[in-house]
Amino acid sequence: MATFPTSRLRRLRRTPALRRAFAETRLDPASLVLPAFVRQGADGPEPVGSMPGVLQHDLRSIVELAERVHAAGVGGLLLFGIPTAKDEVGSSGWDPEGPVPAATRAIRDALGDELVVWADVCQCEYTDHGHCGPLDERGVVVNDEAVEGYVRDALAYAAAGVDIVAPSGMMDGQVAAIRDGLDAAGHEEVAIVAYAAKYASAFYGPFREAAQSAMSGGDRRAHQMDPANRREAVMELTLDEFEGADALMIKPALPYLDVVADARESFNLPVVAYHVSGEYAMVHAAAERGWLDGRAAMREAVLSIRRAGADVVLTYAALDLAEESAP
Ligand code: PBG
Repeated sequence: MATFPTSRLRRLRRTPALRRAFAETRLDPASLVLPAFVRQGADGPEPVGSMPGVLQHDLRSIVELAERVHAAGVGGLLLFGIPTAKDEVGSSGWDPEGPVPAATRAIRDALGDELVVWADVCQCEYTDHGHCGPLDERGVVVNDEAVEGYVRDALAYAAAGVDIVAPSGMMDGQVAAIRDGLDAAGHEEVAIVAYAAKYASAFYGPFREAAQSAMSGGDRRAHQMDPANRREAVMELTLDEFEGADALMIKPALPYLDVVADARESFNLPVVAYHVSGEYAMVHAAAERGWLDGRAAMREAVLSIRRAGADVVLTYAALDLAEESAP
């Protein structure tokens, strides 16, 4: 590399056309996935206060959303369900008539295989206490019983026609158990994208309003990862690879770009990052106050997640980014 004045790095930054031509990373809508909420028994969509632009959908509006997502070239839709009934174990999670199976069938009827449909697999939206599985007498989630529930959820979602199940409960052994359960039931084609390194994060706050999954008490720090840990994430990713995950997810995204970069460096499986509710909400909140340009900040955030090494980004801004013209 020559030095100044022969070398002038500004030459390739001079015009929009030059910058476009030499961009190392692109925000292709196909590499984005939109998370969406579907509420059982809903009579029309309802806005989520802490997440501008995000709705709790009914069956009709989730299909309209899927059609819009497909038309915009967004890579897929990740479904979360809000059931009418909750209990201690979260049994409405595996009800074949539950919100996620019903939405999946409706989307398949409208779009066939043209849109990739993902289902989040966890009990926290389905338990009356809001934890990720059944609790013991101390109020701690019982690992192996929670996993049994995830297998039943995954089977219900696979039977309804999802392409991908994404277990998010951070129970040990969940990926292997789901793979075995799916294969034994003839669903060997359904992929598992493991929430492999999922941190106990304050950035999930708005999600719990959107999914109506606030906890009655306690926290998730005994199973989700400690934000202090980076090497431990490599162990989590390694275990999920061995257990048969088809792709590895890191969550949240922006505060954990080092982990995303590690995953890209050390694994050949696709890397997925989840730009979570709080990351989305804070950009909107600042933009509403006029403190930053929300569109530009959102685009920069998601581009940065791709630059750090994510092949696919789950983001509530997927449709906005896809529908906006490129900068
Ligand atoms: C659990 C789950 C959560 C999120 C995705 N799956 C909540 C949690 O772990 O507490 C959070 C997503 C977000 O904040 O956008 N089913």
